[in-house]
Amino acid sequence: MADPVPYDARDGWIWLDGEFVPWREARLHVLSHGLHYASCVFEGERAYGGRIFKLREHSQRLIDSARMLDFEIPWSLEEIERASVATVEKNGLADCYVRPVAWRGSEQMGVSAQRTRIHLAIAAWEWGAYYEDLRLAWAIYRRPSPETAPVHAKAAGLYMICTLAKHAAEAKGYGDALMLDWRGYLAETTGANIFLVMNGQLHTPIPDCFLNGITRRTVIRLAERRGIPVVERHIMPEEIRDAQEIFVTGTAAEITPVLAIEDREFQAGPVTLQLLDDFRALTRGELEL
Ligand SMILES: Cc1ncc(COP(=O)(O)O)c(C=O)c1O
Repeated sequence: MADPVPYDARDGWIWLDGEFVPWREARLHVLSHGLHYASCVFEGERAYGGRIFKLREHSQRLIDSARMLDFEIPWSLEEIERASVATVEKNGLADCYVRPVAWRGSEQMGVSAQRTRIHLAIAAWEWGAYYEDLRLAWAIYRRPSPETAPVHAKAAGLYMICTLAKHAAEAKGYGDALMLDWRGYLAETTGANIFLVMNGQLHTPIPDCFLNGITRRTVIRLAERRGIPVVERHIMPEEIRDAQEIFVTGTAAEITPVLAIEDREFQAGPVTLQLLDDFRALTRGELEL
């Protein structure tokens, strides 16, 4: 289902290349390299009570993702942070999602893009729960090997297979797709990392060919603080049958319990609920890590 108001027909302000422009006027040219050849990286952040959670990590990852795609964002870490905070404030938002995006412009056409200008935009909007009653289907695509793509970049091009896999899952009545990696190990969903609760321990795939999510790393620390052992390892897909609880983590997803993977059903159990409580307290500034 489409969002009720298209994203180009809203009111507010978008930070674009150093200044705020009215939301509807934040445009790029159709011959932008980022659009044709996926020379584009982005971030997804959430602000809670007006404070962007893990802003430093997200801003640094944006810069790092661009470098992995062989371009340098022409703004410093501190400038990106200030622009992100200003975007939330300028739009009068407190609890919201923040989306910085950087891409190559239209000075050059073709695969090579060395002389294109680098653009940066930052938008923010209210965004509720990303997943509801999450049921997962096995994905039609696998995460690629690090020899095939810059897998640790949050790069637009890597989401092509995610959109296709998610569409295929939705066509079967599921909320998202659960991807394996190129070797056949459990990887992640199309927009969140995955955790399995197995006999009081937390098991999660090694992020060696997909994003080591900032929420994933936070949840690992929250679990350790509670004395829950965390095991990062290669997990075979059939092992989901042995899990008592499964949840996914991500900035948009926060911590979302998984209710089913294909025909195997799960319930949000005590470990998931504890971590959900702790995560909520952390994002609200009621808990320090
Ligand atoms: C493919 C993918 N994996 C994992 C994540 C989780 O990352 P983070 O917790 O840093 O938002 C995201 C969301 O950004 C994602 O898009």
